[in-house]
Amino acid sequence: PTTTTTTNNKPTSWVSPDWLTTLTQSLSISKKDDSSIPIASAKLDDVSDLLGGALFLPLFKWMNEYGPIYRLAAGPRNFVVVSDPAIAKHVLRNYGKYSKGLVSEVSEFLFGSGLAIAEGQLWTVRRRAVVPSLHKTYLSVIVDRVFCKCAERLVEKLKANALNGSYVNMEENFSQLTLDVIGLAVFNYNFDSLNCDSPVIEAVYTALKEAEARSTDLLPYWKAIYRTTIVPTKLVAGKSLNALRFIIWHLVPSCSNIKELQCETAMEAEIYSRGDWLILDVVYMSLLQVSSVQLRDDLLSMLVAGHETTGSVLTWTTYLLSKDPLALSKVQEEVDRVLKGRAPTYEDVKNLKFLTCCINESLRLYPHPPVLLRRAQIPDVLPGNYKVNAGQDIMISVYNIHHSPQVWEKAEVFEPERFDLDGPLPNESNTDFRFIPFSGGPRKCVGDQFAMLEAIVALAIFLQHMDFELVPDQNIGMTTGATIHTANGLFMKLSQRKTKPALASSSSR
Ligand code: HEM
Repeated sequence: PTTTTTTNNKPTSWVSPDWLTTLTQSLSISKKDDSSIPIASAKLDDVSDLLGGALFLPLFKWMNEYGPIYRLAAGPRNFVVVSDPAIAKHVLRNYGKYSKGLVSEVSEFLFGSGLAIAEGQLWTVRRRAVVPSLHKTYLSVIVDRVFCKCAERLVEKLKANALNGSYVNMEENFSQLTLDVIGLAVFNYNFDSLNCDSPVIEAVYTALKEAEARSTDLLPYWKAIYRTTIVPTKLVAGKSLNALRFIIWHLVPSCSNIKELQCETAMEAEIYSRGDWLILDVVYMSLLQVSSVQLRDDLLSMLVAGHETTGSVLTWTTYLLSKDPLALSKVQEEVDRVLKGRAPTYEDVKNLKFLTCCINESLRLYPHPPVLLRRAQIPDVLPGNYKVNAGQDIMISVYNIHHSPQVWEKAEVFEPERFDLDGPLPNESNTDFRFIPFSGGPRKCVGDQFAMLEAIVALAIFLQHMDFELVPDQNIGMTTGATIHTANGLFMKLSQRKTKPALASSSSR
């Protein structure tokens, strides 16, 4: 690979004719690296992807050019970009050796000391406090109480759209649905964003975009550009954050007064066995040991981590199904056969096997977030004998691992059948880190089962009632803000399904 010399020429303004070239040069490294990790050198084309806010796309191009591990210099900082399951496994499993690093730095303004970015002992304590709130008993209760109810509200709204023939932005609707779900599940509060505009959606999106911008701020010229021209976006992000915190401050006391919970094992056991609690309640049980700011930050972590992610999964699964009529008819047939026209129960979810494969395949092709960041705490040797120094930032490109032809056959093809219909759900352990949509190791997503249940129920109800067709000539595109978003929305033409519940057995593809 070629190396170029970093230049100190800074563009004088956003529109400087030379700034693209200068930025490109800053993306390669200034001296020959002494490890065996190849060094990526960015080209002008890649920079336009960076500008579009989809860093994971050039990372993929560079993987094809430089292999499953390469070094990418970004101004004063450099990243080791990993697209290999064995190296990802090593880094993710060794949380003690690898911290969240840059993620914590750039999103501290949003999450404070919340679980999503906390480190060390604080993280251990908060994770122990939060995990029980997502206990299986609770999940089984909220399938009906929250997941079905919200999805039915969505379908009612969509039926009205279908009648008047308007094109519907499904990305927006799914985002509203998942906000309503997480609001009810965490706080027992109905944002009702499906029916009235909620400032929370915009606020979360803006704050996540700001976090992403801060990570690319480390490219020195981005920093300069921000300082000179786009400062107002920082003001908007600040306002969004205040709006979010304000909402949570007001929700926490009203909900926590509902039940007077104590940190007593017997009491906890009884509450868990009833399944009659809110996520807030269980997290609240630890309040005696932590400040209310900590509680607010943990709940904000849950709200942010649980909303956009699941919304994006629904969006991309619907998109993929709209492009694959065979898979669509197969999944509709399954939904009709299993549910026979009624709403899904917790037990039904296990039988919606092909739908589950479609969602997993969507998570493979569109992982959220597409890149995970870690920072080495001590010098280490990665599998393949690659040395890294303490302080080294590492990008694990989940997108690359999921799209690599070295890892997956027909990697770019939507093929839900690649997952075993009757086998265990694919996860990082049984795929040896080839499939890591929920990460792996100690910092794996706490909401994975919640999210899968929510997505299966929502899509089952949507597919049961609605037919949909992609509005032609749309530029779907991709951009990021923690999750992979469409560039301009996902517009569908909807109609109410006429199909009667099928009694026949599963059709073959
Ligand atoms: C962490 C993905 C839904 C709560 C994570 C991580 C990933 C992820 C990849 C780990 C990031 C890392 O290793 O750096 C997803 C996806 C979801 C989803 C794809 C939807 C399909 C949810 C839901 C909740 C949630 C519904 C809450 C109910 C969290 C929390 C963390 C986390 C609190 C931080 C855990 C920790 O650091 O200990 N998620 N998530 N997520 N997720 Fe999820």
